[in-house]
Amino acid sequence: MTDFKIIHLPSIDSTNNYVKSLDETTSGDNLIVLADEQTCGRGSGRNSWESEKEKNLTFSILIHPTFLQPKQQFLLSMAISNAISETIDGSCIKWPNDIYVGDRKICGILFECKLQGNCIKDCIIGIGLNVNQTVFVSNAPNPTSLKLLTGKEWDKELILSGIINNFQQQVKILQNHQETAVRNQYLSRLYRKNGFFPFRDSQGIFSAKIHDIEDDGRIVLHDTANRLLTYSFKELEFIIKS
Ligand code: BTN
Repeated sequence: MTDFKIIHLPSIDSTNNYVKSLDETTSGDNLIVLADEQTCGRGSGRNSWESEKEKNLTFSILIHPTFLQPKQQFLLSMAISNAISETIDGSCIKWPNDIYVGDRKICGILFECKLQGNCIKDCIIGIGLNVNQTVFVSNAPNPTSLKLLTGKEWDKELILSGIINNFQQQVKILQNHQETAVRNQYLSRLYRKNGFFPFRDSQGIFSAKIHDIEDDGRIVLHDTANRLLTYSFKELEFIIKS
């Protein structure tokens, strides 16, 4: 199920939007849509995604993971995060699915899944990886790129094929029902996985340690009073110095 047809576009509003408009979302083919430029790239929530023309990787993967149940959706998030983190030396995964190097974000992932009955019919995984861009003008917090980190230009095609190969491996592992392997890799790659760090929730700033990630993707922290606190995405913010 993980052979991909690749569509390479010079310019499009958003690769995620483009994939949604295609017949493949109904035909069952797996697809990668890559764009040199996005005129209206979307980030998570209502954010936009900044990416200078031809400098970075902006692409969407369409898969039909009917072997997963809707309640297992977060495994896909773990699988793609593992695949990207494996490809980018020295990176880690900031819960739930940002890729960081040190305290800086190098890659964002946008999931849009369509459920049907008791399975996941289509899943569009949009990936924005900062490769050769060196100046960021939006107010996105802590951006970095491979070029900013290393001082050299990187071959985008090579990085893309690394991510695709690693993702294919991760999907195979899931198809073989070895979910624990994907989950353990995700946990071992987590940003700030050891020790106490500052977080913000609706009550304010507090210090806590990551305790676990639940199957549905919620994070469990334990605070300095040893209380366990569980949060969904958007209910919790990591406090990171810019
Ligand atoms: C985030 O905010 O962290 C998610 C960013 C996702 C950006 C990618 S770029 C390719 C795909 N197309 C989009 O419009 N967004 C995603």
